[in-house]
Amino acid sequence: MMIMMSLGMRAVQSQVWQPALAKPKARAAADPQVKGRAFGAGASVAMLGASAICCRRARGRRSVCNAVRVVVTGGCGYIGSHTVLELLKAEYEVLVLDNLSRSRSSSIDRVLALAAREHHLAASDVNRRLAFKQVDLCDVKMLEDVLAGVKECDAVLHFAGYKSVGESMQKPDMYWDNNVGGFVNLMHLLEKYQVSNRVLLSSSCTVYKPSSEKISEDSELQPTCPYGDTKLKQEQILQCKIEDGRNWNGCALRYFNPAGAHNSGLLGEVPHALSPCMFIPRLGQIALGQRPNLEIFGKDYDTVDGTAIRDYLHIEDVAEAHVAALEHLKNSQGFDAFNLGTGHGHTVLEVLSAFETVCGRKLPHIFSERRDGDAPFAVANPSRAHLVLGWRAHRSLSEILASHWEFVQQNPDGFD
Ligand SMILES: NC(=O)c1ccc[n+]([C@@H]2O[C@H](COP(=O)([O-])OP(=O)(O)OC[C@H]3O[C@@H](n4cnc5c(N)ncnc54)[C@H](O)[C@@H]3O)[C@@H](O)[C@H]2O)c1
Repeated sequence: MMIMMSLGMRAVQSQVWQPALAKPKARAAADPQVKGRAFGAGASVAMLGASAICCRRARGRRSVCNAVRVVVTGGCGYIGSHTVLELLKAEYEVLVLDNLSRSRSSSIDRVLALAAREHHLAASDVNRRLAFKQVDLCDVKMLEDVLAGVKECDAVLHFAGYKSVGESMQKPDMYWDNNVGGFVNLMHLLEKYQVSNRVLLSSSCTVYKPSSEKISEDSELQPTCPYGDTKLKQEQILQCKIEDGRNWNGCALRYFNPAGAHNSGLLGEVPHALSPCMFIPRLGQIALGQRPNLEIFGKDYDTVDGTAIRDYLHIEDVAEAHVAALEHLKNSQGFDAFNLGTGHGHTVLEVLSAFETVCGRKLPHIFSERRDGDAPFAVANPSRAHLVLGWRAHRSLSEILASHWEFVQQNPDGFD
């Protein structure tokens, strides 16, 4: 049984959704720690529908409804939720794992509603193809309980983690424990329970040494902040696993600056109370009067107006890249990395001015010192993703900003 939440309803608690009653896998039963523990039984499972993810009649990596199964960690977050929607559109069957430390499960309600409303997928179909389980990747036992009951999947998309450069400078250990520790647990248990040996990893342009040139995948790797260190370490763990000959494959998608919202205005980036607010969400908050001004870190960089340059790409372009990368992985071997960017950079002041045009008001700003760990210039050379994945970002900066403005106007208090 599942409960479909309408957009006007309050955030669903994970316990509300009922578990799918499936038997544990035979190999799980051999493990004393997980013996006899059915998927979700007795746990706070949010399972949408008697999903074929756990159906023992499913053949190979496909479910009874013939959808290709994937697991998405961090799927309630900003990039994860937009990607889950894209996966549903591409007819995947998706199990989302998230501890909700930096998101709310209501994003999944939005995804469900959008899939049906905007993309005309039958509600019964998307309900069957989307499941959610609240689980912390750093809690090995909890994660093991879940993964022991998951049928073999085509791939795992790993979004779960913390993402702020500034916060990581303050709390490097917390970043290391969550981003690296959680990923190590995941990889170990994916192998132990043969869930999947194919991983699509969310990485970041922060893995690169800062450069005044456009960055390509073979540019030097040298993070300047603990967050970037954790992303590079995740890549190395995946690469080692793949290269040690145990039949793994996967790739890292190195995002530059994902921003904007779904064109419906119903799904977008909601700043979480515990995470530092990203640049474009901050602009939205100022325009709504929720924040007094924009603090710009550094006005003496060697750029046209002294402020840092970034490559902003639309969240829907990012989501589409994941579907393209999954297709690519079906026929690829070894480890690969792809930059996701537009190849065009904009200064902070240029983005501010463009957002003022979009929202029709002046936004107050102040300048502060440069922030440790920030690079002056970070723009992608995205040609490899185009060449190999057949993907390119095709939405503009003004579309990014307009979509975000639409989203925050419709949702000034987030999803709730
Ligand atoms: N947004 C960006 O600008 C950006 C840029 C480059 C890379 N990335 C990477 O993309 C991924 C997703 O970013 P996002 O913007 O969607 O972030 P987000 O904070 O919106 O989403 C991350 C999700 O992971 C979950 N999570 C965190 N730790 C977890 C844990 N231990 N167990 C289970 N779930 C956990 C959070 O609850 C959240 O739902 C991250 O790995 C991030 O490093 C993001």
